[in-house]
Amino acid sequence: MSGAPRTMTTTTDTTAPSTTDFTPGPLDRTAPFYVAGHRGLVGSAIWRKLEAEGFTNLIGRSSTELDLKDREAVFAFFAEAKPRYVVLAAAKVGGILANNTYPVDFLSENLRIQVNVLDAALEHGVERVLFLGSSCIYPKLAPQPLKEEYLLTGHLEPTNDAYAIAKIAGILQIQAVRRQYGLPWISAMPTNLYGPGDNFSPTGSHVLPAMIRRYEEARLNGDASVTNWGTGSPLREFLHVDDMADACLHLLEHYDGAEHVNVGTGTDVSIKELASIVAEAVGYKGTIEWDTTKPDGTPRKLMDVTKLADAGWRARIGLEEGIRDTVAWYREHQDEIRG
Ligand SMILES: NC(=O)c1ccc[n+]([C@@H]2O[C@H](COP(=O)([O-])OP(=O)(O)OC[C@H]3O[C@@H](n4cnc5c(N)ncnc54)[C@H](OP(=O)(O)O)[C@@H]3O)[C@@H](O)[C@H]2O)c1
Repeated sequence: MSGAPRTMTTTTDTTAPSTTDFTPGPLDRTAPFYVAGHRGLVGSAIWRKLEAEGFTNLIGRSSTELDLKDREAVFAFFAEAKPRYVVLAAAKVGGILANNTYPVDFLSENLRIQVNVLDAALEHGVERVLFLGSSCIYPKLAPQPLKEEYLLTGHLEPTNDAYAIAKIAGILQIQAVRRQYGLPWISAMPTNLYGPGDNFSPTGSHVLPAMIRRYEEARLNGDASVTNWGTGSPLREFLHVDDMADACLHLLEHYDGAEHVNVGTGTDVSIKELASIVAEAVGYKGTIEWDTTKPDGTPRKLMDVTKLADAGWRARIGLEEGIRDTVAWYREHQDEIRG
């Protein structure tokens, strides 16, 4: 890494502490701020949040304008844009089916995106970087709720281990930069997110947007019943993406530590309860059936959000309200719906 970061202290002590001599505080609203993945679910919410908070120098590039897998192009972009802050919300993302079917794509593309962006950010001495991972980084059989310290304490869920390993590598790269160069970069691990801009594709989407689409289509078709996979008993946690964006800015302005921070609500619902909330929100009046011959997946997945609460943040958007808002967005944006 030739060019940078020249102003930062370098240490060869691999046991160096997790803190830097940086004091978090309000970010400069006029500084160049690159949101990688600004058209995605998370990136677009972060962009909206930053705009609303008065940031005037936001930088975004679509994947057609800048393919983050192209290392040379990424370095050229950083040289030109000179961002002072970076949120890395660009990634190849998908549900279980996609992850299980195309594991090498999820591993290789995500590793390349991350390494290119983080290397270029280091080369240019970017002051603050927020790397986003996901709750799948935790071992399959980790105790619930999931605490940050459970990382690397057991085997991963095999259906998305390739994606998880890429994300774990990202956390490690952030920590390694902190240790080697003293830069105050951080990582956050969101729980399941949903909201405006989500992926509603029948094959590539997560459980909540898939349910919204299925129930809305059933309502429009006048179907007497909708059948869901499994028993409906697994418990899952969902965070509205506008809350996620709020948490991201909060962490950038208030948190400086090597350990990643879980971002969630700290509460979960059963898939059965979720189905009822979605049916109510779309106005579907038919019956809800469960195909119990289909697998349920992990019984429970809930983040421990103590660390986030200690950093002074908690979720505000309730699930019913958030789902109503997402259904309204889905109806109004039929022409932009992915998949
Ligand atoms: N959604 C969730 O429930 C959830 C939960 C936990 C964590 N996360 C994390 O949040 C991050 C963002 O997820 P998301 O849900 O917002 O995903 P998303 O909606 O699929 O958006 C991903 C974004 O990444 C960009 N991208 C992908 N490949 C690229 C490439 N080669 N070059 C440039 N840009 C590329 C896409 O850009 P274009 O649109 O321009 O193609 C897209 O805007 C991921 O790291 C994910 O792990 C998401």
